[in-house]
Amino acid sequence: MERLQKVIAASGYTSRRKAEELIKAGKVYVNGELVTELGTKVSGNDDIVVNGVHLEKEEYVYFLLNKPRSVICSVSDEHNRVTVTDLISTNKRIYPVGRLDYDTTGLIILTNDGELANILMHPSNGVPKKYVAKLNKCLAINDLKTLEKGVMVDGVLCKPTRVKIKKNDTDKDYSIVEITITEGRNHIVKRVFKELGYLVDKLSRVSYGFLDISKMKSGDYRELSIKEVKKLYDYKY
Ligand code: URA
Repeated sequence: MERLQKVIAASGYTSRRKAEELIKAGKVYVNGELVTELGTKVSGNDDIVVNGVHLEKEEYVYFLLNKPRSVICSVSDEHNRVTVTDLISTNKRIYPVGRLDYDTTGLIILTNDGELANILMHPSNGVPKKYVAKLNKCLAINDLKTLEKGVMVDGVLCKPTRVKIKKNDTDKDYSIVEITITEGRNHIVKRVFKELGYLVDKLSRVSYGFLDISKMKSGDYRELSIKEVKKLYDYKY
């Protein structure tokens, strides 16, 4: 859901400021009802009429990207670094669903469908996200057990749904760990391991719900099918 004035401006009808004036002046109808409240939230499915003109409904698009390292998860960057939206060819105003760090690789969904983005990011919907982390030393068995029980991060428990050691290289002293979590706090995987005394040297998100990027090269992207989008909507609790 987006604010009405933002949706009117995004349609190209007028600027956000003018849209606000039109709403206050009683010139805007949503699904046949007069709306004069600026904070009103609407979705892309709502029928919006401004000054007697029906706004074209936004066509939603959904992309799955295998994000490379050194790419910013945002729609623009003040330092002119490459962003995830630079990698996708579309004329729609898409944005990433959640964030991956600059140095994290892997699966990120991009869309202009705010309703789906909210469903996927809402903690109560518990969408599982699987990460593969390379640690700066071997994961000790007691730390693995602690991790499985859950680790407090900033006073809130982060309890992975699954943890699996993929590799323990005792010669070079590092572990590769697969960790599945349902929450989406910023830097959560790095913070969980930091609590246990480990640094994450490399991090990749390999799956998001039922979606995975095993067949996609770094930087590749594809559109989601209607079936996949419907299945993502089913995460709504
Ligand atoms: N957790 C992290 O620490 N970084 C990410 O990019 C994603 C999850």
